[in-house]
Amino acid sequence: MTFHTLNELIAEGVRGRYILVRSDLNVPLDGSTVTDDGRIKASLPVLGKLTDAGARVLVTAHLGRPKGAPEEKYSLQPAVARLAELAAFKVSLAQDTVGSSAKELAASLQDGEVLVLENVRFDARETSKDDAERGAFADELVALTAPNGAYVDDAFGAVHRKHASVFDVATRLPSYQGDLVHTEVEVLRKLTADTQRPYVVVLGGSKVSDKLAVIDNLIGKADTILVGGGMLFTFLAAEGHSVAGSLLEEDQIPVVQDYLKRAAGAGTEFIVPTDVIVASKFAANADYETVPADGIEGSSFGAQGIGLDIGPDSAAAFADRIKDAKTVFWNGPMGVFEFEAFSGGTRAVAKALTEADAFTVVGGGDSAAAVRTLGFADDQFGHISTGGGASLEYLEGKELPGLSVLDR
Ligand code: 3PG
Repeated sequence: MTFHTLNELIAEGVRGRYILVRSDLNVPLDGSTVTDDGRIKASLPVLGKLTDAGARVLVTAHLGRPKGAPEEKYSLQPAVARLAELAAFKVSLAQDTVGSSAKELAASLQDGEVLVLENVRFDARETSKDDAERGAFADELVALTAPNGAYVDDAFGAVHRKHASVFDVATRLPSYQGDLVHTEVEVLRKLTADTQRPYVVVLGGSKVSDKLAVIDNLIGKADTILVGGGMLFTFLAAEGHSVAGSLLEEDQIPVVQDYLKRAAGAGTEFIVPTDVIVASKFAANADYETVPADGIEGSSFGAQGIGLDIGPDSAAAFADRIKDAKTVFWNGPMGVFEFEAFSGGTRAVAKALTEADAFTVVGGGDSAAAVRTLGFADDQFGHISTGGGASLEYLEGKELPGLSVLDR
């Protein structure tokens, strides 16, 4: 695929033109406080380039998954306040997406200023499966850019969504790939072609069902897959172990058994923890103990015990594999890192990535938030992706609508 670049757009001239930019400002919030501003910082360079060149920038973005109507808790207000703090250009937020506020503020926007439209998912047409409905919404977004607008997709985290602000606007305006999307795709390409070996993939997060397609695709490609997070319990169950009250997706056990069998013949080694930290309940102050992975029910909490992290032996074994790697992709925390007692596995994996003499990629909103929450700096890793689902779908080999629509 080849794309028109942001630099081409700037060379064509943007002064005084309305440029519609899709950014990914979907950041985690604690009330109205942004707890990880990584995606906001990653969105700044493209907005800065366009405003420096005199464009009138209209930003579309989503936050969370509102049900197609405005909801205070999903307002982009906190994200936009943080963007305004970080930006060298003027930023304002419309009270709606394509309504009177958006129209009035867009009309009075000056060269070099940014107007963020309120959460695109406050309009049900954004995510509609009906092409005509999405198209009608896209038409209203595009109308704000008249008479000679252009579209820049810089929301890598959303390129796997066939949504109006990602896909349909690009069929209606001259369209360009933002620098963030460009960088992300270049990095992920290195994980799929001419990958330096050993190639170690670390997968965590709560649900194995979210990771099935990527695991399927990595068998035969990755040398080693380290399994942590809530999904590890479905792997333990697939190996015939009882997991007490831990997260388990019973219907996925046969699928995982098939993966374990296929991997053995395909040169991919799955490493499943040999010890886990089991807690009395899902809480920061729960009682807990470390037990062998095949003895979870033997913990003091019996059938009630919940595994909340990989154990220290497993963390050390994972770290060893990571340190021997030449390429590492990591998606999903190893445990409930938000609770100090269950953050050891995630911390050990993050530290090993920073120490490895390897090309290291941290993928996904949760893993990115985890490394920052645990005090690691972005520049200790080869690349921290802004895309969670998007980076996984890229590695699954799927066609990403937000990328293919930009293909010229
Ligand atoms: C993400 O958080 O991965 C992106 O912002 C996409 O969000 P979504 O999964 O709600 O579409």
